[in-house]
Amino acid sequence: MTLEAIKYSGTQLSILDQLQLPHVVEYIEIRSAEEGWHAIKEMKVRGAPAIAIVAALSLAVELETLIKDGKLSANAEEVQLLIREKLHYLTTSRPTAVNLSDAARKLEAHVSTQARESESTGKSVASAFIEAAAQMLKDDLADNQNIGKYGADWLIQNTARTGQQEINVLTHCNTGSLATSGYGTALGVIRALHSSKVLKRAYCTETRPYNQGSRLTAFELVHDNIPSTLITDSMAAALLSSKERKVSAIIVGADRVAANGDTANKVGTYGLAVLAKYHGVKFLVAAPRTTIDLQTKSGQDIIIEERPAAEVTRIKGAREGCEENGLIATVRIAAPGIDVWNPAFDVTPSALIDGIITEVGVVERGANGSFNFEHIFGN
Ligand code: MRU
Repeated sequence: MTLEAIKYSGTQLSILDQLQLPHVVEYIEIRSAEEGWHAIKEMKVRGAPAIAIVAALSLAVELETLIKDGKLSANAEEVQLLIREKLHYLTTSRPTAVNLSDAARKLEAHVSTQARESESTGKSVASAFIEAAAQMLKDDLADNQNIGKYGADWLIQNTARTGQQEINVLTHCNTGSLATSGYGTALGVIRALHSSKVLKRAYCTETRPYNQGSRLTAFELVHDNIPSTLITDSMAAALLSSKERKVSAIIVGADRVAANGDTANKVGTYGLAVLAKYHGVKFLVAAPRTTIDLQTKSGQDIIIEERPAAEVTRIKGAREGCEENGLIATVRIAAPGIDVWNPAFDVTPSALIDGIITEVGVVERGANGSFNFEHIFGN
């Protein structure tokens, strides 16, 4: 069985409800941009590429339904405006991952070109949007497979230089099939290493507070029979200093890579990068080019989402129990009354990153400590 976070058939969109994993595997239907917005905000779907794809497809199914029910009577210009408004609304769901605003900008431009065609109608504009949104799902899968291949080749070459035969890697958060249209970015590299039979073991952090590691990455690793071990976030330093468990590289995903290579990713990533530097372990970021934001000069300009205190003060358990604030919250683990700070992401300075693995190759850090992406965007 292939793990699929997003199922799209043209008229129907359903997503695997990640709030319930790993206890319950349940798909929920998304029928409109509004339902898409809520699913993203409540983290029923999460991960930078998956957020962008679900946002676009949620609007695609809404438009498709209007066409099917004969309710799209608006002209080309009106439909273009409607799409622009809904895209803008969708981008307000989660601010840090750039993939969503990048997709909205490109889809808006595509639709506006279509609307300018002399024979365009409301229906043709809507259809152009639907087609482009569906294409995003296909492109993302192909991109991830290429990221996996380039990342695995880079790591194999770099570890061969150190005389190592087998590779142990550590990853953080969830960057796999559940965070993308399939295969994954950092987890895609792990999948490719496993297929090449050079992966000894993948370690994954629990990734508090939302537990993307223990709930989602562990779920994917077990699903694919990849030799793997779960650690709590606080065990990473012990793991990197272990001679027996010798980690060759830390591979993570990204929510936004600034023009200089500073990278926003799941909170805890920065700490792992500092540890990697101290222990002389390679630190790699795997992300499609849509995650690289050349408009954002450095990490200081990235908006970091802050999430509800309940994610920190409570832990989730099995489905039985109380449903509170959209979380399957079961047990309060923090003292009542304590103040909570819950930033969902942190920024890793480019100087701590050895390479950024994209679908067109690995960009290595320059001698000046930052990255130059010009050649991978063709200018
Ligand atoms: O808050 P989340 O679960 O959406 O955060 C996800 C991450 O930080 C991932 O590492 C990132 O989006 C890349 S997913 C391919």
